Amino acid sequence: MTMTATPKTSAHIQSGEANGRIWGARAADWAAIQEPQCAPAYHAVFDKAVIGSETRLLDAGCGAGMALRLAADLGAEVAGIDASAALLEVARGRHPKATFALGDLEELPFDSDSFDVVTGFNSFQYAADPIMALQEARRVTRPGGKVFVMTWGEPDGMEAAALVAALKPLLPPPPPGAAGPFALSETDKLEALATSAGLTAQEVFDVNAPWRYPDLATAQKGLGSSGVAVKAAEINGQAALDDAHAKALAAFRQPDGSYVIGATFRVLMAGVAL
Ligand SMILES: C[S@@+](CC[C@H](N)C(=O)[O-])C[C@H]1O[C@@H](n2cnc3c(N)ncnc32)[C@H](O)[C@@H]1O
Repeated sequence: MTMTATPKTSAHIQSGEANGRIWGARAADWAAIQEPQCAPAYHAVFDKAVIGSETRLLDAGCGAGMALRLAADLGAEVAGIDASAALLEVARGRHPKATFALGDLEELPFDSDSFDVVTGFNSFQYAADPIMALQEARRVTRPGGKVFVMTWGEPDGMEAAALVAALKPLLPPPPPGAAGPFALSETDKLEALATSAGLTAQEVFDVNAPWRYPDLATAQKGLGSSGVAVKAAEINGQAALDDAHAKALAAFRQPDGSYVIGATFRVLMAGVAL
């Protein structure tokens, strides 16, 4: 498989701005309900990365900063970049001492070789040009350092994929070749992406991170805080979004009224050559 990077254009910049607006629209709900659902994946990545007090870590697409908080608690010196000012405000509140930048994954405002580890948790697949974003991640990582790309696992058989699919009728058909949540989920695509960005793919592993909500209203708030859901609500109204989620969630209702939905995330660990 061949993949090529294209020069940065105004379309890339606009995609960062547009993504930042929709992902930040429900920043508080994202930070309180949806972001913690990925905690098992953050822990798995930091275990592999062997984070400690010597580690300088950048989280690219850091959102509200929960992963950075965990890395900082392990002793790392942390920095984050995101396209959403609202999510960065939450992240700054959680890490007054960390370095944060509002910007684009495809144009990182950091010097070359600045970090030992760069992570991207469910972020690179939303860049207009994921190869360019990953080339930037490689540039700012020192020789011998590591880049981690976390994305969705393969949708076949994954319960959470039903919740993503529930939004399809509420969204305009994506243009051909457009990126989406599962754009990088296949292992060979992830490895090819790494190679195209000049990285060495070292390992691909999956992490189970089931989503849990105490009741329907919390589930609707959490699921409604993703950028894609915000877009669906803007087009169809909040009631249509909540209704689509309620219908898709029914299959996952537990006897006590809570909801548990199986979700798997796939992680690529890639190295920067010495
Ligand atoms: C699924 S959220 C993940 C956020 C965070 N990593 C987490 O695990 O909660 C995707 C994030 O990528 C950011 N994002 C999307 N496209 C971006 C771009 N082109 N440049 C910078 N950030 C971007 C969004 O603003 C959002 O915070």
